Amino acid sequence: MAQPAPDTAPAPAPRHIAIIMDGNGRWAKLRSRPRTFGHAEGVEALRRTVEAAGDLGVEYLTVFGFSTENWRRPIEEVNALFDLLRLYVARDLDRLVREGVRVRIIGERNGLQADIASIINDAEARTRHNDKLNLIIAFNYGGQDELARAARRAAEDAVAGKIAPADINPDTFAKYLDTADMPPPDLLIRTSGELRLSNFMLWQAAYTELVFVDVLWPDFNKDALQSAIAEYHRRERRFGGSDPAKP
Ligand code: FPP
Repeated sequence: MAQPAPDTAPAPAPRHIAIIMDGNGRWAKLRSRPRTFGHAEGVEALRRTVEAAGDLGVEYLTVFGFSTENWRRPIEEVNALFDLLRLYVARDLDRLVREGVRVRIIGERNGLQADIASIINDAEARTRHNDKLNLIIAFNYGGQDELARAARRAAEDAVAGKIAPADINPDTFAKYLDTADMPPPDLLIRTSGELRLSNFMLWQAAYTELVFVDVLWPDFNKDALQSAIAEYHRRERRFGGSDPAKP
């Protein structure tokens, strides 16, 4: 049966959505399976979400794949997370290239295994000219680490005379971040009910709307994404001012 036409067009998706994909371990535990099984299902949720974000017209989707603190996990789990990046790129890169997705990685690249570094470089190079959706994978990423690396580079430029210390301000400093040419996230979603930023996009999330959902990441889907977007549209963004939606 035909659906009645809605009174108004659906609100447009936010330009940039960031996601902390949390709850893989608990999802696996509920099924008496190893944590790595939950991470593998997490990749399926990621694939669904990339497709849904593209359908909804999102321009930037940033996901937290591996944090600088995740090195504290057992080595088997760390290796499994690296294997999932390898698997995801091996399975999906051709499709991402075809579908106009530009892949970018943020995080510390020094110290990553050589094959991971070349997978990252290849994914970025092959999708460089795409512009439908920017998929930004935060890998070996920590907000404090990113800020420290940015401060180090700014200090090096100051010592080299390329920038005067007095010219360092939020606009010039942001250019030293891994996200230099990206807009800040409008909406940050964290799954699994945890209410923390966990060192994710500390600078960029200054005025981001935070939406915490109870769904465990492997169960995340287009409906869950649309509910989070609907919640975002119920918020009034003031950016520290008194007028809504005036950056
Ligand atoms: C948090 O769940 C999730 C992670 C630390 C990893 C997220 C990774 C994926 C979804 C795999 C896809 C990644 C790439 C880069 C392709 P948790 O293990 O902390 O879950 P828990 O809090 O229930 O233990």
